Amino acid sequence: MAGRSPIALVTGARRGIGRGIAYALADAGFDLVVNDAIDDTAARETLEAVRSRGRRATFVQGSIADLAGHARLVEQAFGAYGALDCLVNNAGIQVKVRGDILDVTQESFDELLAVNLRGTFFLTQTVAKRMLAESRSVGDPSRSILTVSSVNARIAGPNRAEYCIAKTGLTMMNQLFALRLADAGIMCFEIRPGIIRTDMTAPAKERYDKLIAEGFTPVRRWGEPADVGRTVAALASGALPFNTGDAFHVDGGLHIQHF
Ligand code: NAI
Repeated sequence: MAGRSPIALVTGARRGIGRGIAYALADAGFDLVVNDAIDDTAARETLEAVRSRGRRATFVQGSIADLAGHARLVEQAFGAYGALDCLVNNAGIQVKVRGDILDVTQESFDELLAVNLRGTFFLTQTVAKRMLAESRSVGDPSRSILTVSSVNARIAGPNRAEYCIAKTGLTMMNQLFALRLADAGIMCFEIRPGIIRTDMTAPAKERYDKLIAEGFTPVRRWGEPADVGRTVAALASGALPFNTGDAFHVDGGLHIQHF
């Protein structure tokens, strides 16, 4: 197996940031296992675009919120190409109705936590156990687990409390897995995107256009899925070999407190 291509599983990768991550990883030489809850033409397009970059691509359908499905999902991911070097926890959802924290419903809270935190945690746990059980050969690719949280892991968004709470939980999750997996050489990183142009942010386009033009983000432009992809690909390729547990903002400076 020495010298083989690295292999990555990206959750929620049929569109948006996950797709941008899949493309950047393919450009960096990774073969891809693309996961999503939905299997549609967008998923096919993502697979085709990875293949057009000269890399292999397999689709594994499943919701990360379905814990009972994790064993199958992870087996299929490891089975696709015989190993797995990188997990990118990207799948996530936004609140359906933005509003006052005093109006957050149990249903919305549970839904957000089930996908963005509970599902992500237990999928990571299952992948980590499987990674630890794998025998490694000299020359195998470096291993990593990257978790896409949000700038809302640090900056409060008062009209989407349950989203922020779930994403903040990922900050601690990343550090705890970094501690547990360092001896195995599995580096763990958190990625905090800012305002990225995807279907998730499309409903708020006009508001964000205005904020960006006014300088809300020091770098006055929308982030693109490819921006997040570049950061993920660098980290997954082992560009920072003495780092683990760190959080990286991909937000044009949005997180910088200033007055
Ligand atoms: P998106 O809605 O465009 O894409 C998300 C993808 O994840 C979809 O293909 C969806 O089907 C899939 N997905 C949703 N729930 C899933 C589940 N339970 N299991 C498997 N797949 C599932 O969203 P976008 O913008 O690409 O977001 C990706 C990640 O980035 C999310 O975790 C989001 O919270 C985070 N993020 C996005 C930002 C943005 O500005 N777009 C900013 C900060 C963080």
